[in-house]
Amino acid sequence: MDSVSTIEPLSPEVTPASMAQAESLLANSASAPVLDVRHLCAVYGKRSILRDISFTLNADDFVAVIGPSGAGKSTLIRCINRLVEPNAGEVRFLGEDLRQSRPRALRAARRRIGMIFQEFNLVDRLSVLDNVLTGRLGYTSTVRSLARLYARADIERALVLLERVGLSDHCHKRADRLSGGQRQRVGIARALIQEPRLLLVDEPTSSLDPKVAREVMGLIRQMAEEFQVPVLCNIHDVDLATRFCSRIIGLQDGVKRFEGRPDELSPAALRDIYAMEVL
Ligand SMILES: Nc1ncnc2c1ncn2[C@@H]1O[C@H](COP(=O)(O)OP(=O)(O)O)[C@@H](O)[C@H]1O
Ligand SMILES: [Mg+2]
Repeated sequence: MDSVSTIEPLSPEVTPASMAQAESLLANSASAPVLDVRHLCAVYGKRSILRDISFTLNADDFVAVIGPSGAGKSTLIRCINRLVEPNAGEVRFLGEDLRQSRPRALRAARRRIGMIFQEFNLVDRLSVLDNVLTGRLGYTSTVRSLARLYARADIERALVLLERVGLSDHCHKRADRLSGGQRQRVGIARALIQEPRLLLVDEPTSSLDPKVAREVMGLIRQMAEEFQVPVLCNIHDVDLATRFCSRIIGLQDGVKRFEGRPDELSPAALRDIYAMEVL
């Protein structure tokens, strides 16, 4: 939790200069990729985890990252918003290289990057509604967030999103009373209330049974289309990746071995990505 000395005004980033910058970014956004990863490398200690990874994500992309356990999928997602510091390359988000961003600009960028996690990462003792509202914390001052004082507009938006993900009847339940599929729907609403320009999704269905997994993937895709936000989704399950995603990136041991449409993912390409694993 931030200390009191870091209290910020309510909307620190909204200045005429930042508005002009935002407008020029919007003007460019039709052509420029939302995310442009170039020659990204990451190491843990002396071990190379990501090796020279490059790809782009446009506004209408839903890209799956597949590959065996330990390939570097989670590290890739964590490098994009610098939860893990890459050690080389660029991560351009809306034109800005986040590797060069100062803390304040990085915080502003992170607000526009929604995350959906395998284990949902909900606060069990909070209500479903309060869990969704935690997605607004990046926009709320420290004092207000400590008191969980949310703007009325945020509460209204949370209720609309809960309706959109099919949880209207559960708003005031504690999060730990929900099923796995319902919990992930809360996770989706929490990411969307950030008004993200990019969704990073890490194994969203690993804790779910196959039918619920398909429903959750369908919902993520539907919401991504509706809110026009591109998605980068790590997913172990190749069948789900080919069924729901428009493009697939295959990682193996930190190296990009494949990039293409689902129908281009041949058995040979799969064998290459999964190398030693028996399919
Ligand atoms: N915090 C860490 N410290 C050291 N090694 C790590 C850490 N996190 C992950 N690794 C290693 O990095 C490699 C890639 O991990 P990860 O990105 O989690 O792969 P994936 O998500 O594809 O399963 C693995 O070999 C893993 O053991
Ligand atoms: Mg992982």
